[in-house]
Amino acid sequence: MARQTALITGANKGIGFAIARQLAERGFLVWLGCRDEKRGELAAQMLRDLGHDAQSIVLNVVDDGSVCAAAEKIGREVTSLDVLVNNAGMHFGYPPPASEEPIDQMRAMLDVNALGPVRVTQAFLPLLREAERARIVMMSSGLGSIEGTADMTSENWTVGFAGYCASKAALNMFMLKLAKDLMNEGIKVNAADPGLTATDLTGHMGERTPTQAAAIAVQLATLDALGPTGGFFHDGTSSTLVRHPW
Ligand SMILES: NC(=O)c1ccc[n+]([C@@H]2O[C@H](COP(=O)([O-])OP(=O)(O)OC[C@H]3O[C@@H](n4cnc5c(N)ncnc54)[C@H](OP(=O)(O)O)[C@@H]3O)[C@@H](O)[C@H]2O)c1
Repeated sequence: MARQTALITGANKGIGFAIARQLAERGFLVWLGCRDEKRGELAAQMLRDLGHDAQSIVLNVVDDGSVCAAAEKIGREVTSLDVLVNNAGMHFGYPPPASEEPIDQMRAMLDVNALGPVRVTQAFLPLLREAERARIVMMSSGLGSIEGTADMTSENWTVGFAGYCASKAALNMFMLKLAKDLMNEGIKVNAADPGLTATDLTGHMGERTPTQAAAIAVQLATLDALGPTGGFFHDGTSSTLVRHPW
């Protein structure tokens, strides 16, 4: 069997870097999609220093030209892509309430967090289709759960971040639509909630480490033929996936 390949967006740090490392440890040739060339190359070099097969690729998920150029470049190097992890994401820190949250910031989060993964998935589909059983993972968030947020007794209810939460809810819907489109081709598409994790995104709040947070994405990226598609999951044990409320 040919060497398995994976592309992870937003992989220069945080959970994305941990996903890249864990997939590399499983023998994947990993491509680290990063919007900054130098930071990407530093991250890839760290993995190569550990003995892994890792390459960086410039990829800004909001830029059609950047995404297409990345797909063309990777397409010249490999014949197929087995795994795509749409991990890149952002927010603007603590926003004011939804009634006052700047529309420009909401639009930017929708572009990076919801449309970015669709843009990247569409561009890489030809390569994913060449793989025997491609897997696509969307890095969602428990904050994107509408069911959770509608429960007035839940922690989600008390959280603000309207634009960020809406972008992850939209991502979950895109994930489902893509899963439906691609299921007859054997391509599985799922969404992961990594849990509150200490990274730059959270100002290093949260008890989970990027290594722990990466595990659910890696599990979904390496599902066998009997694994689910069109699901939203958080951490289970090593063998069990736990569905997250929509
Ligand atoms: N940490 C948590 O508690 C938590 C919880 C739920 C979900 N998540 C999700 O997990 C994912 C990873 O987050 P993290 O906590 O690891 O955050 P992080 O450490 O801030 O990493 C975010 C990554 O996304 C990249 N990125 C941002 N905008 C991009 C763009 N336009 N194009 C390409 N890359 C871009 C960043 O690149 P730069 O370094 O260039 O900025 C960085 O590599 C995100 O989707 C986030 O929403 C995180």
